[in-house]
Amino acid sequence: MEIIIRHTPAEVAQVAASLLEPFIRTGATLGLATGSTPNPTYQELIRRHREEGLSFAKCRAFLLDEYYGLPASHEQSYHATIRRELTHHIDIADENVHSLDGAAVDPAQEVEDYEEAIEDAGGVDIQILGIGTNGHIAFNEPTSSLRSRTRLITLHPRTVADNARFFDSSDEVPRHALTQGIGTIMEARHLILIATGPAKADAARALIEGPLSASCPASALQLHNNATVLLDEAAAANLEGLAYYKAKEPYWPVGETYSC
Ligand code: PGA
Repeated sequence: MEIIIRHTPAEVAQVAASLLEPFIRTGATLGLATGSTPNPTYQELIRRHREEGLSFAKCRAFLLDEYYGLPASHEQSYHATIRRELTHHIDIADENVHSLDGAAVDPAQEVEDYEEAIEDAGGVDIQILGIGTNGHIAFNEPTSSLRSRTRLITLHPRTVADNARFFDSSDEVPRHALTQGIGTIMEARHLILIATGPAKADAARALIEGPLSASCPASALQLHNNATVLLDEAAAANLEGLAYYKAKEPYWPVGETYSC
């Protein structure tokens, strides 16, 4: 696992965009996350698209998760969110932006089809991840099997509380979601997890320094060969090994394929 610490979320976004750019240039299959954390990265990618000609035309994308019970047309569905925050502002073909159907009548079939679609696309080349304050990745809540596959899950009360800010009240937050499993996410060839802000400091420590445990689903990244964790100073504040991580800044040129 490589750990990169920058002062601000804006600086973190610069590094994330630079890690993603060579993949985008080769028409990679991108794994996209929603939530507040990746938005500065998306804004930087949109800027590079507009000002530097970075083209997504050959890319396809798969979203990590979707609220179950929200139709695609709902403004808080992740189908709508990713279009508003990223894909409507770049040149990726809309039909190449895949996500789980939160209105699926048969969720068991939906998750099976989604796994198949990812496989048919040749897998995800580079996956962007956020982390929940409870250590979740995608909507894999604590106690999720570290080998779990895409499935229907009940949201943790903390996730419902954290996400209430996107809705008029916490009563409106869906209680269920369809999510790629941890095992599914771990099959992506590269992972970039971004955590910013003091609310993520405990989760970041559990991810990086805690035991490998279903209690912190993000700790599964400890088993991945190409995982990069990007933190701002606030999210890195609780790390015991902070001085070491800062001293061992990655040795590969940002954006090149590496193994760690
Ligand atoms: P956030 O969510 O980026 O909105 O904090 C991250 C997550 O829950 O994975």
